[in-house]
Amino acid sequence: MKTRTLLYALLVLTFSCNDDKKAEPTTPKYVEELHSYAKPNTSAIKHLDLDIDVNFDKQIIDGVATYTIENNNATEIVLDAKFLNIASVEADGQNTEFELGAFDEQLGQALTIKISEDTKTVAVHYQTTSKTEALQWLNPQQTADKTHPFLFTQGQAILTRSWIPIQDSPQIRITYNATVKVPSELMAVMSAQNPKEKTADGVYKFTMNQPISPYLMALAVGDLEYKAVSHRTGVYAEKSMIDKAHSEFSDMEKMVVAAENLYGAYDWEQFDVIVLPPSFPFGGMENPRLTFATPTVIAGDKSLTSLIAHELAHSWSGNLVTNATWNDFWLNEGFTVYFEVRIMEALYGKDRANMIALIGRQDLEEEVEGFKDEPEMTKLKLDLSNKNPDDGMNSIAYDKGYLFLRTLEETVGREKFDAFLKGYFKTNAFSTVTTEGFIDYLNTNLLEPNNVDFNVNEWVYEPGVPENQAKIVSDKFDNAERVLNEFIANKVVDVSKTKDWTTQEWVYFIRNFPETITTEDLERFDKAFNFTNSSNTHIAMVWYEQAINHDYHGNNVDQNIEDFLIRVGRRWYVSTLFKAYKRNDKVDEALAIYKKSRPNYHSVTANTIDEMLGYNE
Ligand code: BES
Ligand code: ZN
Repeated sequence: MKTRTLLYALLVLTFSCNDDKKAEPTTPKYVEELHSYAKPNTSAIKHLDLDIDVNFDKQIIDGVATYTIENNNATEIVLDAKFLNIASVEADGQNTEFELGAFDEQLGQALTIKISEDTKTVAVHYQTTSKTEALQWLNPQQTADKTHPFLFTQGQAILTRSWIPIQDSPQIRITYNATVKVPSELMAVMSAQNPKEKTADGVYKFTMNQPISPYLMALAVGDLEYKAVSHRTGVYAEKSMIDKAHSEFSDMEKMVVAAENLYGAYDWEQFDVIVLPPSFPFGGMENPRLTFATPTVIAGDKSLTSLIAHELAHSWSGNLVTNATWNDFWLNEGFTVYFEVRIMEALYGKDRANMIALIGRQDLEEEVEGFKDEPEMTKLKLDLSNKNPDDGMNSIAYDKGYLFLRTLEETVGREKFDAFLKGYFKTNAFSTVTTEGFIDYLNTNLLEPNNVDFNVNEWVYEPGVPENQAKIVSDKFDNAERVLNEFIANKVVDVSKTKDWTTQEWVYFIRNFPETITTEDLERFDKAFNFTNSSNTHIAMVWYEQAINHDYHGNNVDQNIEDFLIRVGRRWYVSTLFKAYKRNDKVDEALAIYKKSRPNYHSVTANTIDEMLGYNE
């Protein structure tokens, strides 16, 4: 409620004292945005020159953000800012007045800058603060090599405003140049053209010539090395991780080729991945030209690399064709999961692709069940008013979105569907799409020409999963389930039955334990397969979840769970485990661990768990 009242007050205020309104074009280019204070229809940023100093001693970033603007005769420009100290602002090189609006817990503040009708640039001198949410400053102990500190940013969904004052809406697109000064023993990399070696003076220059949305601004600083996989793909990591990362991701070039064969040329020239320290709050983040990734995908056998396919797919769905608002988030993630599964199929075959899709199908089922008291959260098109866009980051956007597209594909046939998607990416390249815009495009370019009647509105605007959903099957999973039931019925584990199983089969096996599984069964499995000490983080995670669910304490598993939660900050893993404690009335146990693990978490993970466990610092 608080946010709505505030926004309303702000709206009234802006309208009553806004003499720029006459300047708005008749059909506004930018649609209404719940999560940004910017008013880009009157004045919008187009290019950023960022000049910053990264100070590890003080843990602040300090510098100037200079914007070239598109000015529709406006007398002010509004940026988003959160937890920033604004020192001064210039318009075309002259000091100008600025004002920071009321603070909102989620949105931060409007930074309103006085300009004149012919102003072309504004420069904001600013500093981040200890509260800045996008940044995680790591001490050497929290890195792989344990000798140098590390810094990384996370912009999506609305955190870029906490490290750069900016018009922080996905509808905005800017090119940028940056000069970043870091301690000379460290290397800086961004979502831009990147260095391959350290400089002597710690000064790095970046250019990003393709226009990107502000949530894709990204910076990482650490003791990094680069190793190429192909002429346009490669990995950044700390020394002790670089070879592991390089061999794990050795199929990167093949993935880019497969993606291009499906939906058109890769528009970003370079595709690199940086392996971050384990506190990175996501599996991956599709920062253009440089995907940020968790080290937990490095399993040693390439079994978790669908994550790379996923982030690569965002180079089309998300980075090239971007959701207009966070209510349309499924356009980013649903399309990306669809594309990810297609890339995996192209490289490794249908079996693997269907297993990935089915794991998502099970996530979706659990998510829908979890939202049984809030069914409106299971719609693809969300209404995130008064909510943090983060609340939409769940299996609905990803896996219901996927299922919708797969169902469409199976209805019209793959050939037509692929041609349609290729056209969609080409037509909308470097721009944003609303859910309504997509539905229009779908009707005009796929459904009507092929005379196909499809329940699009039900899929997009109704809760739950429609009846006509594609049925995904996997012989391998059917077999895993059979084997599981056999082991339980016979009270004996026959390891020959699980020979050559892939990670996906193990995950399926573990996730599908019956409610009635006994401690003896779990002990028997752990003895045969040593799940408690699995070096595959996905297998370990689902096993730990079952240990919590079924009160299993053998093989020192409790210590492993605690160590895992302290080391790994990937929100999906961490929240799955804390949720299991909570569901099983073990909040005290959870809090005892959380007190130790929380200092290692990035704010996005800590915020989620704070809320889940009712934790107050
Ligand atoms: N773009 C997302 C991560 C994200 C979403 C960050 C919303 C902040 C707000 C990224 O592409 C993603 O989906 N990551 C997944 C990987 C996966 C589905 C393979 C993750 O982190 O688990
Ligand atoms: Zn994604």
